[in-house]
Amino acid sequence: MAWQHLRISQFGGPEVLQVVEESTIPEPGPGEVRIKVLAAGTGFTDTMIRRGRYPDFKGPLPFTPGYEIVGVIDKVGGGVAAALEGEMVADLCVVGGYAQYAIRPSRFLVSVPAGIDPAEAVCIPLAYLTALQMLTRCRNLPAGATILVIGASGTVGTALLDLARHLGLKAIGTSSAANLAVIERFGAAAIDYRAGAFVERVRQLTPGGAGVDIAFDAIGGGHFRHSFACLAPRGLLVGYGSQTMAVGREGLIAAGLGLARLKLWSAGSFLFGGRSAVFYSITARRSTHPEEFTADMATLFQLLRAGAIQPVVIERLPLAAAREVHARIDRGGLGGKIVLMPWSA
Ligand SMILES: NC(=O)c1ccc[n+]([C@@H]2O[C@H](COP(=O)([O-])OP(=O)(O)OC[C@H]3O[C@@H](n4cnc5c(N)ncnc54)[C@H](OP(=O)(O)O)[C@@H]3O)[C@@H](O)[C@H]2O)c1
Repeated sequence: MAWQHLRISQFGGPEVLQVVEESTIPEPGPGEVRIKVLAAGTGFTDTMIRRGRYPDFKGPLPFTPGYEIVGVIDKVGGGVAAALEGEMVADLCVVGGYAQYAIRPSRFLVSVPAGIDPAEAVCIPLAYLTALQMLTRCRNLPAGATILVIGASGTVGTALLDLARHLGLKAIGTSSAANLAVIERFGAAAIDYRAGAFVERVRQLTPGGAGVDIAFDAIGGGHFRHSFACLAPRGLLVGYGSQTMAVGREGLIAAGLGLARLKLWSAGSFLFGGRSAVFYSITARRSTHPEEFTADMATLFQLLRAGAIQPVVIERLPLAAAREVHARIDRGGLGGKIVLMPWSA
């Protein structure tokens, strides 16, 4: 039976994404399953991979992009329980998601409870898991603590705001002027990052101008200094990306210096009023703490099923729209997640 997927044969702009039709459905090997993909998430990280600027994936070429999927197990390989066939699962696959079928190892798959919309479910493995782990695994925040989310209208940013609201935290978020309403919808205070003097604006929004208890920043490089300056004494900066480097607005050296500063602030915390910094990576955390990965995903699916969190899915499009979707992510300002629905025409 013919089936479709996207292929990247060279790193570059959105034009490197090509729809490919295959004539035979792949078979799962030992320890693997074949997933009929119902929803594939798209996001900034996919565009980094497409450009060849993602540290955890540099090929080999050609490959199928797509960091996260939700789908139904269609066939199991040797050594995998046959009872899994027909089960809806989610997977953080890093690549391989923009496809009608994906062959995946069974060991990291997480069950998706019945009754959940696959397009909303696919917001969980990357954006919401990153947000939940940064909020709960990097520090124990008491209810009422104040968080600062840089890039709060993005897929991870909106997940941080959504979970912060659920956890009873106060939030301040930054985005471009056009997306301030996305932030305010979560009950957070919104700041336009292009309006300047954002450190002063953040401080004005905290009691006595003390600063925030924790800040999340994926802009990276020189921007980490601004976020660190927003912290209250004993506050924590969680760096989780180098976005300006990824889009070519900062060089490798500036990005490296940003990461070095995180280490310096962490080691010399006593010199900075107890303020500290860490770097978070979902793939690193999954390999060192696989049990947390499964437990946190299960927690998020329960919250989603209970209606306690509301992922911002702005559009559902067919696989053939992947080029246009990447061009829109590159332009910025989306204000949520576009989900590819591989079986829609
Ligand atoms: N370390 C990890 O484990 C991990 C996991 C997931 C994602 N990430 C990283 O997290 C980052 C965000 O991913 P995403 O999917 O949320 O991206 P996204 O949906 O494209 O969102 C990016 C956000 O950043 C804002 N922004 C852009 N330029 C900015 C600037 N100069 N200053 C402040 N804000 C700015 C955007 O605002 P406007 O659109 O309004 O301009 C938007 O709110 C990416 O670098 C990604 O690779 C890391």
